[in-house]
Amino acid sequence: VLFSLGAGVDHLMGDPKLPNVPIVRVVDEDLTNRMSEYVVLHCLMHLRQQRRYDEQQRRREWFDDRFQPAAREVRVGVMGLGVLGQDAARKLRVMGFDVAGWSRSPRRAEGMETFSGGEGLTPFLARTDILVCLLPLTEITRGILNRSIFERLARDGRLGGPIIINAGRGALQVETDILACLDEGILKAATLDVFEKEPLPPDSPLWSHPAVTVTPHNSAMSSPDTIAEQIADQVRRFECGEELRNVVDPRAGY
Ligand SMILES: NC(=O)c1ccc[n+]([C@@H]2O[C@H](COP(=O)([O-])OP(=O)(O)OC[C@H]3O[C@@H](n4cnc5c(N)ncnc54)[C@H](OP(=O)(O)O)[C@@H]3O)[C@@H](O)[C@H]2O)c1
Repeated sequence: VLFSLGAGVDHLMGDPKLPNVPIVRVVDEDLTNRMSEYVVLHCLMHLRQQRRYDEQQRRREWFDDRFQPAAREVRVGVMGLGVLGQDAARKLRVMGFDVAGWSRSPRRAEGMETFSGGEGLTPFLARTDILVCLLPLTEITRGILNRSIFERLARDGRLGGPIIINAGRGALQVETDILACLDEGILKAATLDVFEKEPLPPDSPLWSHPAVTVTPHNSAMSSPDTIAEQIADQVRRFECGEELRNVVDPRAGY
């Protein structure tokens, strides 16, 4: 058995010497909670225009925008309805957001519209003001956050333009497209926790773009203690002939 030390397994999947053994990944309640905190925080930050008020404070400027939309008027689309996507979607609904989700196979979730596969993507994007990406990195999802996707996001939303939040993997996004779309008004803002190259190089224009919020790939870390406990439990299960948990499908790549 191969143990991935995180929720993702993309670092293992590309390895040509990968042995033909089960691969299990970490699914940790604490990590899931932290990711949902991140997603809710950044959706609220965009909803309540916190970056703008930070800037106003620096300039000692008192300007109250009284026409801020309510969370229920903002449509959040969660890409990836796995362990992390489902929890984030549920907590965003608690905050009042109008949430929908998109996955590979059809999934049902209470109180939320769901879309799946290639045919579900365009209608999903068309009703999305804030796009939250919690997809795994696979051969199919690589580069999925690109201009073609951004151009299909809703343009009639209450936030004045589509916003993206990527906390999945950096290789899901095409950074030149994100920057160009921000400059062309196709996107209004982006929160990025992950990057094509990490650490984000000091000369990346993402650092200083006024519409980009950068965090250093720390939206959700797994604690070493939890990982150790999970591995010990999986070893015990394996030795007792019990089923392993959180087994990766090598054909799907996640
Ligand atoms: N930034 C960080 O600190 C951090 C921390 C932890 C995890 N992550 C990332 O978050 C990812 C998701 O974690 P998870 O535990 O939620 O994974 P998961 O439980 O395996 O869920 C993955 C979800 O993505 C969907 N999906 C996969 N390929 C797709 C495709 N081609 N089209 C549409 N949907 C697709 C799956 O669809 P189905 O439901 O049909 O299977 C599933 O809903 C991880 O792989 C990791 O890369 C990042």
